[in-house]
Amino acid sequence: LTASCLALSTLPALAQTAGIDNDALREEALGVFDAIPSDMTAIKQTEENPEGVTLTPEKIELGKVLFFDPRMSRSGLISCQTCHNVGLGGVDGLPTSVGHGWQRGPRNAPTMLNAIFNAAQFWDGRAPDLAEQAKGPVQASVEMSNTPEELVKTLNSMPEYVEAFRTAFPGDNDPVNFDNFAAAIEQFEATLITPNSPFDRFLGGDDAAMSDQQKRGLQAFMDTGCTGCHYGVNLGGQDYHPFGLVAKPGAEVLPEGDTGRFEVTNTVDDEYVFRAAPLRNVELTAPYFHSGVVWDLREAVQIMSSSQLGTELEPEQVDDIVVFLGAVTGDQPRIDHPILPVRTNTTPLPAP
Ligand code: HEM
Ligand code: HEM
Repeated sequence: LTASCLALSTLPALAQTAGIDNDALREEALGVFDAIPSDMTAIKQTEENPEGVTLTPEKIELGKVLFFDPRMSRSGLISCQTCHNVGLGGVDGLPTSVGHGWQRGPRNAPTMLNAIFNAAQFWDGRAPDLAEQAKGPVQASVEMSNTPEELVKTLNSMPEYVEAFRTAFPGDNDPVNFDNFAAAIEQFEATLITPNSPFDRFLGGDDAAMSDQQKRGLQAFMDTGCTGCHYGVNLGGQDYHPFGLVAKPGAEVLPEGDTGRFEVTNTVDDEYVFRAAPLRNVELTAPYFHSGVVWDLREAVQIMSSSQLGTELEPEQVDDIVVFLGAVTGDQPRIDHPILPVRTNTTPLPAP
């Protein structure tokens, strides 16, 4: 007898509430998804380097301070936290982000929570990892509008930063540099994971972790084909698909000017191709899509079903899927706001 047969024969009432076969559902789901690990000790594991890069408390702490420090921006006002608020599911809750000089950027800010599990970063996947990613916003004129040189000058002007870089990167002759800035932020971000959602607990064997409606939604999410694109630990974030595979959504949802991966690869096939959005904590991260125009998760699911699947889902199926998506909200990281290093007379002043 296998373990699941035993469970079924000894606990029929628990294993099969309301006609739901928990063991079969779990087995099918485990073929498509993975649970979020309870904590992270290493990143960037590859076949050649299975150990990967070890996370260290010193790098994580430094990365946290940098993440919260608005002086990393030209204006002295904007930090990573401005657009990736750790208290708001890792987003700014705006259609598209507002950055330097109150400029509105072209895209919605995706969450950095669990971003470590994405195969590549950004809506179009143009950054291979979180360290490369972190170099982008600092320099983007519509985001933090700084330069690597000015940023390193700012860091070097504060003895506490110089000390923290030395401690975090021992053996490095010149530790205060832009690469180490990005590497420290990457390590902090790698700790921003949200384990223990009802969905993860169900995958781990706890039948009672999800409600019947959430389980029906999970079944519908798999049966209707959402898992063709939204799979893996983040229910997405793994590969690229045309937004509007079957039917193009309206220009408001899919603005013509943003051609997605086409701008990265210059290949016609990549026009309006985007990374399948990761759906962890999705109930916390409205508004939806790279255009950030859809505030209602129900409407987002309906748009997906018509644009990506080419079907009108039954209203009950949509309800069930939306309720299931509520079950992928995990424990949010509890982050104490760090005390930031004290400026000195050589610290660059805020600039317009
Ligand atoms: C994308 C982190 C600063 C707005 C991302 C992503 C990460 C991230 C990890 C990719 C997430 C994903 O693809 O799933 C950071 C860090 C920052 C920072 C570490 C500080 C160094 C900012 C600021 C803003 C902002 C200040 C707003 C002014 C955005 C937007 C995207 C994005 C709009 C999507 C851009 C695109 O796909 O083209 N950020 N971010 N970020 N972030 Fe940030
Ligand atoms: C985005 C759900 C099917 C590819 C999204 C979003 C949701 C969602 C809620 C928005 C996430 C956010 O903005 O944070 C679903 C559901 C599906 C489904 C419930 C089944 C009914 C599919 C399929 C594909 C796909 C089959 C691929 C053919 C994408 C892509 C995005 C996305 C590329 C990003 C769109 C953008 O650039 O804004 N999905 N999805 N989805 N999904 Fe799906």
